[in-house]
Amino acid sequence: MLCNLQDKENGLVYMSKQILLDVELRNYFNDFGKNCVIYPGVEVGEGVSLGHFVLIYNNVKIGDNVRISDRVTLGENPKEGLETKIGECTRIFSGATIQSGTIIGKNFTMGSNAVIRTNSIVGDDVILGLGSEIGANVKIGSDVKMNSHVFVPDYTEVGDHTYLGPYVVVTNTLHPRCPKVWECIPKTGVKIRDYAIVGAGSLLMPEIEIGEHAIVGAGSVVIKSIEPYSIVVGNPAKKIKDVRDIKCPERIALIEENPYDARLIELRMRGK
Ligand SMILES: CC(C)(COP(=O)(O)OP(=O)(O)OC[C@H]1O[C@@H](n2cnc3c(N)ncnc32)[C@H](O)[C@@H]1OP(=O)(O)O)[C@@H](O)C(=O)NCCC(=O)NCCS
Repeated sequence: MLCNLQDKENGLVYMSKQILLDVELRNYFNDFGKNCVIYPGVEVGEGVSLGHFVLIYNNVKIGDNVRISDRVTLGENPKEGLETKIGECTRIFSGATIQSGTIIGKNFTMGSNAVIRTNSIVGDDVILGLGSEIGANVKIGSDVKMNSHVFVPDYTEVGDHTYLGPYVVVTNTLHPRCPKVWECIPKTGVKIRDYAIVGAGSLLMPEIEIGEHAIVGAGSVVIKSIEPYSIVVGNPAKKIKDVRDIKCPERIALIEENPYDARLIELRMRGK
């Protein structure tokens, strides 16, 4: 049975009887649409807005100034003791799903219909493009941009200041139907180290490491680990040069200086 918890000009927040009472809605919502369902143990900060048909399961903690669009699901597949956290100033676009046990930092932007599965960790200032899928137990650092339709499976690690272009596919096992596959996968996740760039449409095979500052050219198939600062292209991907030798052909990027230079990236990060 549904009952009406709040009645504002824009619509209603509905809660079924058994999920009504122990919801901690500190300042309630800034704004909300119709037909949202909020389960017990949900905590909501200040200035949080919800679209229509938003579903928030148990033990989800939402920071201040989070904006949640229509048809978003948070804390899906709730399990005892699993807390889901959404950092402040996050923006989640329509149809996105975050499963239980996942912890999201602040300023996260999640594109429409993107999914993050259970027990993953996402740092601050991360962008995840529309239609992307992040598996379970994935670790994503801070200042990361992942374009639309990336696939990042269970146990992948993505470092700070990294970039994954659109349609990047990361894999985590060579033998997906092996009966012991789940014994391997926690050890065979790909590691993408800090500042690395993976170009559009590239595919990374299991167990490899993309070194710090390395670049994988668009459309490459990477079958073995890449040394830091290497640029690799092709199938199978081979080194063509060192990142520090890149020159911006238009001389736009940091005039005459290498846009991938670690020192310059740091300065840029600090707004200098
Ligand atoms: C790999 C990359 C960084 C190299 O950039 P660059 O240093 O300016 O390289 P150049 O254009 O000088 O190319 C060097 C050589 O590698 C080849 N090459 C470059 N990128 C390639 C790629 N992705 N696949 C195959 N060959 C590639 C070039 O054709 C050139 O070959 P040549 O020496 O025989 O003429 C760049 O080409 C790239 O793929 N960037 C990622 C783009 C991307 O995914 N963007 C996403 C935003 S939507």
